[in-house]
Amino acid sequence: MKIAVASDHGGFKLKEEVKAHLLERGLEVLDLGTHNEDSVDYPAYGKACGEAVVSGQADVGIVVCGTGIGISIAANKVKGVRCGLCTSVEMATLTKQHNNANVLALGGRTTETGLAMQIVDAWLDTEFEGGRHQRRVDMLDQM
Ligand code: RB5
Repeated sequence: MKIAVASDHGGFKLKEEVKAHLLERGLEVLDLGTHNEDSVDYPAYGKACGEAVVSGQADVGIVVCGTGIGISIAANKVKGVRCGLCTSVEMATLTKQHNNANVLALGGRTTETGLAMQIVDAWLDTEFEGGRHQRRVDMLDQM
């Protein structure tokens, strides 16, 4: 599985940690930047990650900014993206089971590293439930 990762400066440190964690799990990573803590604009990175997923360059994506809010808004502007901002393992599990989120958003300044890795693992290891949730996901994708 190939995972696109992207962040702004506020999410850079956690993005690097997530990347190392994914590589340790034996997954392929497409790093779309940013590559240091110089100030950049999160919309560009959310868009790039969303586009990588929708175009098939990556299977899924993980985006990180200071709170995860701005970059998740940006990713969700790309048609076909279902990006869920998660601050708990329960949210990560549910955003896969119910929303079939193809992009996960994290807050680099709001979620500590250990919890962030548990969130990443829960999201990767959970299956979409389908059924009644498929209809709702289809509705999202038609918007
Ligand atoms: C950047 O300072 C900060 O606004 C950004 O990382 C993010 O938190 C926006 O939602």
